[in-house]
Amino acid sequence: MSDRIQAPRGTSDVLGEQAAAREALEVQARRILERAGYARIETPTFEATELFARGVGESTDVVQKEMYTLEGGDGQSITLRPEGTAPVCRAYLEHGMHKLPQPVKLWYQSSFFRRERPQKGRFRQFWQIGAEAIGSDDPAVDAESILLLAELLEAVGSRGVRLRIGSLGTPETRRAYRAELQEYLRAHEGELAPEVVARMDLNPLRAFDSDDARTQRVMAGAPRLLERLDEDDRAHFEAVKELLDGVDQVYEVDDTLVRGLDYYTRTVFEFTSDALGAQSGVGGGGRYDGLIEQIGGPHTPGIGWASGVERILMTGAELPAAAPPLDLFVAYAKPELRGAAFRLAADVRRAGLAARLELAGRTLKGQLKQADRAGARYVAILGDEGTSLKDMETGEQQTVEPDTVMHHITRPAL
Ligand code: HAM
Repeated sequence: MSDRIQAPRGTSDVLGEQAAAREALEVQARRILERAGYARIETPTFEATELFARGVGESTDVVQKEMYTLEGGDGQSITLRPEGTAPVCRAYLEHGMHKLPQPVKLWYQSSFFRRERPQKGRFRQFWQIGAEAIGSDDPAVDAESILLLAELLEAVGSRGVRLRIGSLGTPETRRAYRAELQEYLRAHEGELAPEVVARMDLNPLRAFDSDDARTQRVMAGAPRLLERLDEDDRAHFEAVKELLDGVDQVYEVDDTLVRGLDYYTRTVFEFTSDALGAQSGVGGGGRYDGLIEQIGGPHTPGIGWASGVERILMTGAELPAAAPPLDLFVAYAKPELRGAAFRLAADVRRAGLAARLELAGRTLKGQLKQADRAGARYVAILGDEGTSLKDMETGEQQTVEPDTVMHHITRPAL
């Protein structure tokens, strides 16, 4: 049918095994993050557009062309959240979390929206697991944050994972470096890809990201930000590396690591996986010591990361979905017994066990087949001659009093 409505481009339904794998991933994330003191946070799906314009940065692709922005109804422009860090910082401010012991650690598993060109691993609605630690600039917060994402990817069996880290220094260092880099780019303008030239003024750092071969050759000789860090930032970065070394966390220092969002200061990092195609980023993050100020609060340091749920699952993560147990399937021989069957299934569920009832008018034979397929431990068969209970493990069948079914299926195994 040509007029059948389909899910919008870049979105997908989460079904069956995918749903179970996501749940299993969430269990792992909760276990790892809550053990390290992170509490769950859920922020609204949409926020004032201004939050992202100021927080994420006007010059970023995300803000320039990827936001789903609409009129909020009160003359206010709202935007479906393209990322979670600015919203979490907004919530931190709004709820006076600076009064809590610092750093405040918050994690989320939520969906985000970016109007990107969909391709493998890149969607318009996607999910992220994210973790933010706000209120301390101690390098140990950086190292711990990085380690937690490494642990998560390890725990779920992501394959071919590599960690790259870098430091972007302070905004002042970056400004001076930016000017230096712009000068260098201008001197080589003729050898650069047109899109790099077009972005040279707004975001020269992105030139390191270019996949154009000639641009890459030019960038190989470009000045590096890591060489321009001031004493404090250099010491901070050294401390982060030392802490990672101390726990044998493997990483590569990447002096051209740039991230797509403007709020980063000092430490930045990215986990990639060979198991992914062009969109090889499994997760990434960094420090954002100026973000809270950008959105109207006092100077407050913070660091965090987010990792794409779909991407984690694409890295070969092994998250076997345990089939939920089914204690009892209630079958019945004729329609008149539906009420009794319905009651029995309801009673068993109220007692805290898993029970299902025939719901599609199958023949008795069909019902038994269905019970088997569903992995039922027992099947109660309601018939004219009373109720019989079949143990699906042993194949034994016995006639029982209808109100003793519960007793039979909960009796301790011999
Ligand atoms: P991000 O690098 O934009 O950072 O996104 C983090 C992760 O989300 C990516 O590594 C990728 O796995 C996934 N992701 C991003 N866009 C898409 C997409 N269109 N489709 C599928 N997956 C996607 C942030 O969002 C920052 N908020 C991370 C952060 C937290 N920095 C500090 N705290």
